[in-house]
Amino acid sequence: MTPTATAPAVSDPTVPAPSSGGKRAFITGITGQDGAYLALLLLSKGYEVHGGIRRNAQPETARLETLGILDQVTLHNLDLCEMTNIFRLVQDVPVDEFYNLAAQSFVGASWDQPIYTSDVNGMGVVRILDVLRTLAPETRFYQASTSEMFGLVQAVPQAESTPFYPRSPYGAAKVFSHYITVNYRESFGMHASCGILFNHESPLRGEEFVTRKITKGLAKIARGGNAPIQLGNLSARRDWGFAGDYVEGMWRMLQQDTPDDYVLATGVTTPIRDFVSFAAEALDMALDWEGEGLDEVATDRRSGRRVVEVNPAFFRPAEVDLLVGDAARARTKLGWRPRVDVRGLAGMMARADYDAVA
Ligand code: NAP
Ligand code: GDD
Repeated sequence: MTPTATAPAVSDPTVPAPSSGGKRAFITGITGQDGAYLALLLLSKGYEVHGGIRRNAQPETARLETLGILDQVTLHNLDLCEMTNIFRLVQDVPVDEFYNLAAQSFVGASWDQPIYTSDVNGMGVVRILDVLRTLAPETRFYQASTSEMFGLVQAVPQAESTPFYPRSPYGAAKVFSHYITVNYRESFGMHASCGILFNHESPLRGEEFVTRKITKGLAKIARGGNAPIQLGNLSARRDWGFAGDYVEGMWRMLQQDTPDDYVLATGVTTPIRDFVSFAAEALDMALDWEGEGLDEVATDRRSGRRVVEVNPAFFRPAEVDLLVGDAARARTKLGWRPRVDVRGLAGMMARADYDAVA
């Protein structure tokens, strides 16, 4: 995404303790998809919201601007690779709830940057946990675990008790951070919970992820473009929900008296190919799929235009073929339910991209 604002105001480093009224929360990764939606949710509940931002030549604040909340959150420089940042932050900004959403979150890139990915997604979490247990052990902690930990799935559907079998450096690092969070909970009595979230998307999704790549590509074609979308494995299946629903689940986890781990998922799994067709329908296209393997293509029946081609450059060294989650625990204990189904999600994203391409 392209930032459209001037540099954000980074706060005075020392923030007084929260007033007795509202709660205060800190969100690492506040500039990402989930961070922005979670900040919006917490603000609507009266929280004072602080978040971590990486020092960049051009700070990434586009999502916070899009949601109209950039001026309502307080941003602090933070990189999870730098222990001193975390130490000073926890010392200077006491909070009730700490949501760790920061990560190198693109699975495909984790084979190119396995050490960096392990550092941010794995060691970054134990850095936070250890600083919290030392300086602020009463703070409630949320860790962004992931369905990618199930990888080569050992059961269908996947629940909290399903064994992990990660298939990427990203997944392996997230298994470490998941278990170290459980370990700090059990060792030190910390209120630390992991949300094992299945894929969740939105119009704010990063453009490298397959759903957004599809909806942006379709929007360009619907506006007259003629470049087919180049995709990899069309048969992989994901359990896709709407990010706005999933951040509600994160918040509910930290409102429980007892910390625990929860799967958040819709329970419906859909191949990439069908997601393309759902998004195309929302833009008045009707796709015909022909061919197999590298020769598979999709064509819009109405215009005759080629819409999708397979490009092996987007295949992964190891694939997660099937994800579908069982969110029974979250339904029962948190009262959480997703409100947007995959067809509604694909349509929402395609229409947003179509409007943005105008
Ligand atoms: P995202 O849009 O890629 O956001 C990631 C955030 O992490 C960004 O704000 C990014 O900052 C920040 N970040 C990256 N490296 C950092 C570092 N070294 N230090 C501090 N901040 C850093 O990801 P998302 O989709 O919102 O996902 C949020 C979390 O949930 C991630 O941990 C992800 O692994 C996990 N998760 C996501 C899904 C999903 O389907 N979305 C499912 C399960 C789990 P910049 O803006 O500077 O890049
Ligand atoms: N990105 C991408 N680009 N993926 C493609 C493409 C393509 O051109 N073509 C096919 N795919 C397939 C991938 O091989 C994968 O099987 C699937 O689409 C989904 O890929 P992504 O959208 O990149 O998401 P992900 O499932 O690998 O990872 C996301 O979900 C995880 C939860 O399961 C990320 O948000 C992770 O951070 C998150 O943990």
